Amino acid sequence: MPKSTIVTLPPERWREVRHLRLEALLDTPTAFAASYEEESALPDEVWIDRLTTAFERDGNMTFFAEADGKLVGMAGANWPARAKLRHVAEVYSVYMSPAQRGTGLASRLLQTLLDELRRLGQIEKVSLAVTAGAPAPLRLYRKLGFEIVGRARRELKIDGRYYDLHMMELHF
Ligand SMILES: CC(C)(COP(=O)(O)OP(=O)(O)OC[C@H]1O[C@@H](n2cnc3c(N)ncnc32)[C@H](O)[C@@H]1OP(=O)(O)O)[C@@H](O)C(=O)NCCC(=O)NCCS
Repeated sequence: MPKSTIVTLPPERWREVRHLRLEALLDTPTAFAASYEEESALPDEVWIDRLTTAFERDGNMTFFAEADGKLVGMAGANWPARAKLRHVAEVYSVYMSPAQRGTGLASRLLQTLLDELRRLGQIEKVSLAVTAGAPAPLRLYRKLGFEIVGRARRELKIDGRYYDLHMMELHF
């Protein structure tokens, strides 16, 4: 059984994050609004900045899962600074490498993210969007207490095919 941990990462580890994110976009293109083509063309500074932002700035947090020291999963959340909106966080970029799926590590990763959001004190609601027809993320989010509150039609268009999104919410 590999030793797995949930961690935050310093900006120096941006290459590993880039590798995992590009793996995610290739593995499950229908799960993300970003495309592999777009993100693989980003300059190094963007990746460094993303981690710096995630690491230091209020309004954004990203947690990662490691198995035997290797980066295998990630989940991020951000929330706006604007007064009327800052009680709502949005979860994005949720991914677990195929070898670690079904082990419960993704649940631990998401639970850590939710616990930390709750600890901030100001967040009252967490939102996310999940592609309709994908059973694993839907089941994971339901298990953590999220419920479907709506369906946005034809939100993603990939190679000429449209995908709906389930909008989900969790109230603290
Ligand atoms: C979403 C994701 C992170 C979940 O990771 P995971 O390791 O499968 O998560 P868990 O092990 O906690 O499993 C989640 C649940 O889905 C279930 N599940 C997994 N695959 C399933 C399938 N094909 N059909 C039905 N249920 C499935 C699991 O049994 C588990 O439920 P249980 O705990 O009640 O048994 C992972 O599947 C992934 O990275 N997918 C590709 C990217 C993606 O879809 N990201 C989400 C963007 S919104």
